[in-house]
Amino acid sequence: MSCDRLQKILARAGVASRRGAEALIRDGRVAVAGRIVRELGVTVDSEREVVEVDGRRIEPEPLVYFVLHKPRGMVTTLRDPEGRPTVAAHVRAIGIRVVPVGRLDYHTSGVLLLTNDGELAAKLGHPRSRVEKEYLAKVRGPVAERELALWRRPIFIDGRWTQPAAVSLARTNGNKAWLSIVLHEGRNRQVRRLGEAAGQNVLRLVRVSFAGIGCTDLAPGQWRPLTRVELAGLRRRFPVPAGSCPSQ
Ligand code: URA
Repeated sequence: MSCDRLQKILARAGVASRRGAEALIRDGRVAVAGRIVRELGVTVDSEREVVEVDGRRIEPEPLVYFVLHKPRGMVTTLRDPEGRPTVAAHVRAIGIRVVPVGRLDYHTSGVLLLTNDGELAAKLGHPRSRVEKEYLAKVRGPVAERELALWRRPIFIDGRWTQPAAVSLARTNGNKAWLSIVLHEGRNRQVRRLGEAAGQNVLRLVRVSFAGIGCTDLAPGQWRPLTRVELAGLRRRFPVPAGSCPSQ
C-alpha cells in the first residue's frame, strides 16, 4: 500500500508542483479509479487505484529504501534555518524525494534510514512499534558496574519517564570507554541525557543499528539501498495493514 494525498502523488510523479497539482484537481482534470476528484486532501492508495490526469494514467513513484551513514555535523531535517549541512544535500543524488525515518542529533553519527514510503516510515517512527536502536557512546573511563547501573535508570523527559535502558560495557580504550545502549524508544536526546543523569558526559555518540540494520559497510556520508533481506525483515516485523488508506 502507498497512501498519500492526491496532490502529493501528482507532484511526486512529476506532473506538476504541489500548487500546480492542486489547481489541476480543482479544475476537475484529475480522476481516481475512474471518478473525477475535485476536493483537495483526498487520500489515495496509488498502488491500487489508477490516477489519471486529462485521461492519462500517472505512474506512481517506486518506493525506495536507503540506509545512510550519517556523519557528525549534519542535521537530519531537509532544511535548516541556521544553514547547517543537512541530510538533503547528501541524498539529492537519489533523485527521488526521500525523508529520514526519525532523527539523530547534529553531533551523532550512524544509521539513518531514508525512504519515500510514508506508511513504513510512520510505523517505524511510532512509539508503539518499539523499534530497537543500538548506540555506542564514548565516555571517560574506566566505567564500573556501579556506574552502568546508573545509566540503566529511567529518567524524566518532557513530562514522562523513560523505560530502563539496556546498557553494557562494549570496550575500554585507555582512559575512554565505549558503552552499548539499547533503546526501544526515541525520546529527545535520550542517550546524552541518560549520560548526564549518570554523571557522565557523552563524548561521541554513534547509532550502530536501527531495527537490526547497520552501516558498518559505509563510510560517513555514504548510503546504499536496503538489501532485499533487510527490507523483507522490516516489512515482516513492522507490517502496515493492507486495506483502505488511513484517513478514508
Ligand atoms: N540519543 C541522543 O542523545 N542523541 C541522538 O542523536 C540519538 C539518541
